[in-house]
Amino acid sequence: MSRLLLISRSRKFESRMRILLDDDLDTIMGRSLAHGASAAIAHLTIDDPDVAILGPALSYAQAYELSDRLSMRYPHTGIMLVRENLPGIEKWVSDMKVQAVASPSLDDAALIEAVTGFRERLKAGVKPKARWPKPKTTTVGVPEQSPVDAPVVFPTVEPVPASEREMPGPKTGPEAEPDDGHEPRETADGIRTQIIAVVSPKGGVGKTTMATNIAVGLGKVAPMSVVLIDGDAQFGDVATALSLDSINTLPDAVSEAAAGDTIVLKTYLTVHPAAFYAICGAASPVDGDRVTGDQLGALIDQLSGKFRYVIIDTAPGLGEHTLAAIEQCTDAVLVCGMSVTSARSLRTHLTVLSSLGILPRVRHLVLNFADRDSGLSIRDIEAITGIPVDVAIPRSKRVVLSTNRGIPVLQDRSKDSVSKAMSALVRRFDLSTPQKRGRIHRRAVVA
Ligand SMILES: Nc1ncnc2c1ncn2[C@@H]1O[C@H](COP(=O)(O)OP(=O)(O)O)[C@@H](O)[C@H]1O
Ligand SMILES: [Mg+2]
Repeated sequence: MSRLLLISRSRKFESRMRILLDDDLDTIMGRSLAHGASAAIAHLTIDDPDVAILGPALSYAQAYELSDRLSMRYPHTGIMLVRENLPGIEKWVSDMKVQAVASPSLDDAALIEAVTGFRERLKAGVKPKARWPKPKTTTVGVPEQSPVDAPVVFPTVEPVPASEREMPGPKTGPEAEPDDGHEPRETADGIRTQIIAVVSPKGGVGKTTMATNIAVGLGKVAPMSVVLIDGDAQFGDVATALSLDSINTLPDAVSEAAAGDTIVLKTYLTVHPAAFYAICGAASPVDGDRVTGDQLGALIDQLSGKFRYVIIDTAPGLGEHTLAAIEQCTDAVLVCGMSVTSARSLRTHLTVLSSLGILPRVRHLVLNFADRDSGLSIRDIEAITGIPVDVAIPRSKRVVLSTNRGIPVLQDRSKDSVSKAMSALVRRFDLSTPQKRGRIHRRAVVA
């Protein structure tokens, strides 16, 4: 029987292909790639597929290795790469053993046509016999210009209110759309784990400040059912921001012993006095660099269902660790500074995530360093980013002091404007407080 094989780290793309291609599809999803592409291909039990589709959100190294292993294991299979025309796509195509390229932003009909057309051409013997030197590649729907330059309007999705989030079973309407990439598990008391990724394209905008304060705040909501992971594998500073001196760090938490046994993993967590756990970054960038994005993804998955909240602080940009966190998250906290450059890069960031098919469905935009003296208003930031600001945190010396002391703002009982704004951010994740839809806090902080 003729079959298609999809290898993808985007659950959203997988669901779409499953609907479009019905039962004609075998899949290898991101989690199976945790031990490398070679292992994933070696363990496949299916017969030769007609076409193997390398889906969006694979790294260069993964796509390279996959195309290589696939062409060795299944020499008669055609390989199609699904990827936007991001910078460097020519290198991907020229380096890898792929014979067709399609864009994930094709509409459904065009995507089916791209896949089935490629399959028909292969069946008709159009595929060149010699795989290398490189055969001519068919390109479908990949725009000439980078999508990053194209104007984009991001659909606004507000946080799902407590009542809806707690409700088990399928939702209806537009919110029934699956989260991009991940289905969080439920804790023993039947509440779905919220996986909160704190992200921004830039460094120094307050990601670690937000992540640590969210952890402290949620520690009050769900004591000892919160874990904060320092996902900035190389230069993470969660330990410093929390004054933790951890013996075990991220590389221990993703080690074989911990990955295979959650009881072992729990012994590697560091307890913070504010009733949450932390997995701090490696002691050196070299150690941190040994942790792969897939290992971080598998760790998040392992903690999901064991904790009510899994919070991931990330490195700036879209490296493999940050992509793994974004792909797994139920909620993204997008941190933006009060500057045109920060807002513009956030917009580009969102555009890239959207084109990769992993734009998180629930997004909370935090405007940090909110300051009347910047010459910008909240509306200006909203106009540039294309999404509404949910919480504005004022610029304050108290935050700098708190970072330097290693005691997050929410750890003391102060009721100043920064604490109020941070608490408003935390309330967005607290199912016990009634959720007001939309902008919870902005007017309270900056005019
Ligand atoms: N609202 C704020 N007002 C003043 N300083 C802030 C504010 N938010 C963050 N900072 C300071 O900015 C610096 C960078 O913050 P950090 O959270 O480490 O950023 P990132 O993790 O994005 O690199 C820290 O010294 C922190 O204390
Ligand atoms: Mg940081």
